[in-house]
Amino acid sequence: MPAPVVDQAYLKSVEKARRDLRAFIAQKHCAPIMLRLAWHDAGTYDAKTKTGGPNGSIRIEKEYNHSANAGLKIAIEFCGIKSKYPNLTYADLYQLAGVVAVEVTGGPTIEFVPGRKDSSAVPAEGRLPDAHKGAAHLRDIFYRMGLSDKDIVALSGGHTLGRAHRDRSDFDGSWTHEPLKFDNTYYIELLKGETEGLLQLPTDKCLVEDPAFGPFVEQYAKDEELFFKDYADSHKKLSELGFRSP
Ligand code: HEM
Repeated sequence: MPAPVVDQAYLKSVEKARRDLRAFIAQKHCAPIMLRLAWHDAGTYDAKTKTGGPNGSIRIEKEYNHSANAGLKIAIEFCGIKSKYPNLTYADLYQLAGVVAVEVTGGPTIEFVPGRKDSSAVPAEGRLPDAHKGAAHLRDIFYRMGLSDKDIVALSGGHTLGRAHRDRSDFDGSWTHEPLKFDNTYYIELLKGETEGLLQLPTDKCLVEDPAFGPFVEQYAKDEELFFKDYADSHKKLSELGFRSP
């Protein structure tokens, strides 16, 4: 597939939108929900049918009303800067927001390649992971996207940011004591086991117990540099599902 082509005016809008997002996310402390928006737009991808993925379809009411997306309408509204950049696609804006959210909270730099197309096709409900389940379910969901065991463990590190809200997911609390800082503490806390005041979803806990996932958790807890490198690679893959970069 040829590299997507965007013109100079488009690239200029991307750079301006990146600056707006940096300022906005810093001001509103909304990095976690912006990262979750990017992930939920992308995480519906089905590699077999080439449907879903980072195509902006989460902006459509039917999709943001899927139960897995509870609360994300706020993040969609935060992307109101879209009106300043009519040439930018929603798909690119949401993925740019995800990349900036990681960057402004101290995480790795993730290469952003623009050129995603918007789609109005809403995928069937149920393509995103169910937090009550375990390793086999995570593999079903992430392998469907074309992602690997390593991607599953690295991307789960996104939970170093933010928290669960009782009224959105029925879970409550944050994974670390500093939910606005992107670091490897998520893995350190996972290895400590349950700690009063911190959250671990069943899908987080299963990473420690699974024989293929466990070694990655241990490496990322020990070596933040390795986590940042692998996270940046996996995040880029997630943000480009169904969209080939040069
Ligand atoms: C929050 C599940 C993977 C980023 C949440 C919440 C649940 C959840 C239940 C709480 C939502 C709420 O109550 O507000 C899962 C499951 C995953 C997964 C089952 C499967 C592995 C990911 C990935 C990322 C991510 C891959 C990003 C790379 C986040 C963030 C939040 C969050 C940043 C916090 C949102 C906020 O503070 O508003 N996730 N997630 N999650 N998730 Fe995940």
